[in-house]
Amino acid sequence: MTNKKVYITRRIPKPGFDKLAEGFEVDFYDSDDAIPHQVLVDKLKTKRYDALLCMLTDQIEKEVLDAAGPQLKIVATMSVGYDHIDLQECAARNILVANTPGVSTDSVAELTVSLLLMTARRIQEGVSAVRSGQWGDWKPKWLCGTELTGSTLGIYGLGRIGFNVGRRLKPFGFSKIYYVDVQEVSYARDIDAQFTDFEGLIKNCDFICVCCNLTPQTRHMFNKESFKRMKKNAILINTGRGGVIDHDALVEALKNGDIQAAGLDVTEPEPLPKEHPLVAMNNCVILPHMGSNTWDSRNAMAEIAARNCLAAISNKTPEGIVFV
Ligand code: DGY
Repeated sequence: MTNKKVYITRRIPKPGFDKLAEGFEVDFYDSDDAIPHQVLVDKLKTKRYDALLCMLTDQIEKEVLDAAGPQLKIVATMSVGYDHIDLQECAARNILVANTPGVSTDSVAELTVSLLLMTARRIQEGVSAVRSGQWGDWKPKWLCGTELTGSTLGIYGLGRIGFNVGRRLKPFGFSKIYYVDVQEVSYARDIDAQFTDFEGLIKNCDFICVCCNLTPQTRHMFNKESFKRMKKNAILINTGRGGVIDHDALVEALKNGDIQAAGLDVTEPEPLPKEHPLVAMNNCVILPHMGSNTWDSRNAMAEIAARNCLAAISNKTPEGIVFV
């Protein structure tokens, strides 16, 4: 045990916690719920922590970093996404930022495929019909959905997750797969995906999976104007970040028939209030940000986040380093 100190903003799976507790003094917010911002700020003022292990629900910005003090070496988030961390503020203070890439690729890709199938084949409506006693005689035109076979697929963000979504969806027999990213990537060939620009994606695709990070460039890319230019039968799936889609515009697009349906595992805001118009819409399937909710992923995410803290405290480069 060294005199180094780590603060964790939530209870985390045991493999991560134990790794830190072996060598450091560890304090944590003893709850499964998010730590209130002010509680975090106040807590960080009470001790000089060397590492902060946070969640995607914690806004790590100037006030938090000021409270933490100059000895803080790393902000390690237990997530792939890091849009909740002010990277510039961290860089200005020489604080490393690290995430947990790789270990939730399969879980998020599997959930993306599930959500796409659920939305395309109207599974949510089918399940509620059975539960509410609406299942009557077999009807030729009831709950008819859309087949993947022969359709065009678009992937917005062909990183690890986007690629693995493509790899899983390819055997369904799409006629063409398009992708958008900041540049062409060679591994796209493995799934026969063709690079296109945003316009090409929205004009040509029957299904679009959003698998990117939230950045100033991707924020509200799917908005009123883009929905108008999408195919009327398009189905939009989002397992990246809610902020990539303008939700007010999505409500209108789904109501007006500018697009056919949407499946969202991430929303803006989160949680999405149950009164939000999207929640009641039959052509919108909403899940509660559960892409990486498997024990394999969550244990591994906690472990990597812990290893990232360990590395930074030992003056080594964390494996999940985020370059600013
Ligand atoms: C991530 O790792 O960023 C995911 O959104 C968590 O489920």
